[in-house]
Amino acid sequence: MSSQPSADPLANKAQAWSALFTEPMSELVQRYTASVGFDKRLWRADIDGSLAHARMLAVQGIIAAQDLADIERGMAQIVSEIESGAFTWKLELEDVHLNIEARLTALVGDAGKRLHTGRSRNDQVATDVRLWLRGEIDGLSALLADMQRALVNVAAEHTETVMPGFTHLQVAQPVSFAHHLLAYVEMFSRDAERLADVRKRTNRLPLGAAALAGTSYPLDREAVAQSLGFDGVCRNSLDAVSDRDFALEFSACASICMVHVSRLAEELVLWMSQNFGFIDLADRYCTGSSIMPQKRNPDVAELARGKSGRVIGHLMGLLTLMKGQPLTYNKDNQEDKEPLFDTVDTLRDTLRIMAEMVGGIRVKAAAMEAAALKGYATATDLADYLVKKGLPFRDAHEAVAHAVKIAIQQGVDLSQLPLATLQGFNPAIGEDVFEVLSLRGALHARQVIGGTAPVRVREAIEAHLLRLG
Ligand code: ARG
Repeated sequence: MSSQPSADPLANKAQAWSALFTEPMSELVQRYTASVGFDKRLWRADIDGSLAHARMLAVQGIIAAQDLADIERGMAQIVSEIESGAFTWKLELEDVHLNIEARLTALVGDAGKRLHTGRSRNDQVATDVRLWLRGEIDGLSALLADMQRALVNVAAEHTETVMPGFTHLQVAQPVSFAHHLLAYVEMFSRDAERLADVRKRTNRLPLGAAALAGTSYPLDREAVAQSLGFDGVCRNSLDAVSDRDFALEFSACASICMVHVSRLAEELVLWMSQNFGFIDLADRYCTGSSIMPQKRNPDVAELARGKSGRVIGHLMGLLTLMKGQPLTYNKDNQEDKEPLFDTVDTLRDTLRIMAEMVGGIRVKAAAMEAAALKGYATATDLADYLVKKGLPFRDAHEAVAHAVKIAIQQGVDLSQLPLATLQGFNPAIGEDVFEVLSLRGALHARQVIGGTAPVRVREAIEAHLLRLG
């Protein structure tokens, strides 16, 4: 990049502010205050925002048509320089905004210096972050939909695959593997709803707030909002440059979503352990051990679980960053970017890898079924059976507890006790009890809305597929 000598004050950061400054920044202060190392990632949003601002300035007669043409030409060149890697980012120009503006002025002269009319880096950076985050939210929403589809597709194969449902990690009642997976689909669909809601509040335009108080130039904020696809403008200039609650909200959504991912990851790890043996994950998501030749470790799932920690940490960091700030803009806010960027990157990669991994899961149905047979998972069904024969539920519960005790002593399942023995607990018990005591009978019986019966689960799958398109 050739940067011609110019009268641009930004050409030398020591003089960037004004003639008031009598000494240059030390190298340490320069490094400490600069953000260009990370905020250059906002370059496209920065240029889009600048172009929308410049076009409005021209329409309003604040800059000349020729200035606008020069700015557009310069920005087009800057875009190609950045895309090709030819652009030189300068630490001494502090941030993405000053780097781009300085280059623009170097390229087109005075028009570049007119771009900042009626604008401050305070409303500029707030605009950039919102624009950038909006795009990321859209990408994440698509990934959340992929994640749900991957789960629904596996579920569709397993509406009749019985596994133990757990409470307290103790075998509780039989459920289908499909039903279990659809629980996560519900969680991820709420995550998507939450993201869509955050998008609404993120998608408002700060530009026009200028440094903090608004500006005396006759800006058309609504037009800028419209051209950038914002739903509206921020209604108070002080708030516009100051608050980052959209970032907090996003970060909270991301944290909740990572908690859901983490729970799913934890189950994959458990299910793959020899003690459960419910599933296998493809080799490409596992690693071996350098010392134990027999090992296959579910590293990807463990990392997904672990990475929830950093995302939750970023939420705490951002909340703490905001809490003591007086109105309006404070440089503290420059610290919002790295946690936000890392949150987006972590969530994006995690959703992609988890969706892929879940899609390729190998289900060991026989092991799931054998586990469901172990813990007297149909005891509630026997109690319900007795209630239907006229016993009060508490009495039925007690009778079944005795039956389970005998079954444990004999080392058999309830369904393996002879009819005569069962009738000893209650004479109302008939031959039809054995259907009730079977895993499949128990599964099919739970036909309430939201229950695990295959008929309901198939309906849920249809509804999800319709919603996900
Ligand atoms: N790099 C700054 C940030 O990220 C841009 C805004 C700077 N504004 C200022 N008045 N120093 O927040």
